[in-house]
Amino acid sequence: MLVAVAVAEAFATIDTWAERYLLSADLAHKQAPPPLPERFATTQVPVRIAAPGRPPELVPAKRGDRLPRPKALRERKHRAKVLHAFWHHELQAAELMCWAALAFRDTPEEFRRGLMRICLDEIRHMRLYSEHLATLGFSIGDFPVRDWFWSRVPQCRDPIAFVAVMGMGLEAANLEHATAFAAHFRAAGDEVAACMQEQIGADEVAHVRFATRWFETWTGGCDFDAWLRALPPPWSPMVLRGDPLAIDARARAGMSAAFLQKLSAYVPEAKGRGS
Ligand SMILES: [Fe+2]
Ligand SMILES: [Fe+2]
Repeated sequence: MLVAVAVAEAFATIDTWAERYLLSADLAHKQAPPPLPERFATTQVPVRIAAPGRPPELVPAKRGDRLPRPKALRERKHRAKVLHAFWHHELQAAELMCWAALAFRDTPEEFRRGLMRICLDEIRHMRLYSEHLATLGFSIGDFPVRDWFWSRVPQCRDPIAFVAVMGMGLEAANLEHATAFAAHFRAAGDEVAACMQEQIGADEVAHVRFATRWFETWTGGCDFDAWLRALPPPWSPMVLRGDPLAIDARARAGMSAAFLQKLSAYVPEAKGRGS
C-alpha cells in the first residue's frame, strides 16, 4: 500500500511524469508509460535535461551506418531496419516534447498541454512501428540507433526556436518523408507499412499545425525570414525539408503560401568566399 502511495505521488504532476519518461532506461516504460497526470507542477523554474535515459537494448550506431536504399526494401530485413530507425525518431520526438515542457515552463499551460498531447501521439506511433517490426520477425534493439535529434534540438534557447526546429522543421520534413516512404513500402509490397506511413503522416499535420500556430502567436506571423532567424546554428532549411515539398499537407498545417514559396526556392548562401 505504501509503495502504491509513493508511486502515485511520484507521478502526481505532469512535470514528474515527463522527467521520469525522459530519464527512464526501461524500454517498456518508453513504449507504454503510465497515464498522464492531470496537472502541471506549480513551479515555473525551468529544468533543462541534458540527455535521455537509454534502455540497454538500444546500441549506438557506428559512424557511417546508413539506411537501406528504397530499392532494397523488398527485403524484410531492410524494411525492418528503416522501421526501427523511424521508431527511434518517434522516441526522440516523444522525449523532446517532455524536454520542452520542462525547459519552457514559463510558457502558457495550453502550449505545454499541447506538447504532452503530441508526446502521447509519438508514443502511439512507436507502438505501431514496433508491432509491425514484430510481424517482420524483428524487435526493438535489433538495429543500432543514433540520437541525432538529441544532439541538436536542446540547443533551442527559447520556445520559438523549439517550434521552429521541431514542429516547423523536423516534423514538417516528415510530411515529405512519410509520403515518400509510403510509396517505397507500397512498391516493395508492404501495404501495412505503407498505410502506417500515411496514418502517421496525417497525425503529423496536426503537430506541424500546433508549432506553426504558436510560432505565429509569438512572432506575429508565418514569415519565412523570421523562421530562418529562429533556427539555431547550424540548422539549415536544407535538412528541414524533403523533395518535393508536401505543399498541400504543409498548407493544411497552416504554413502560408509565401512561406512555402520561399522554402521551396531557398538556396543556402555560399560560404568560404572572401568578403
Ligand atoms: Fe510521430
Ligand atoms: Fe510528431
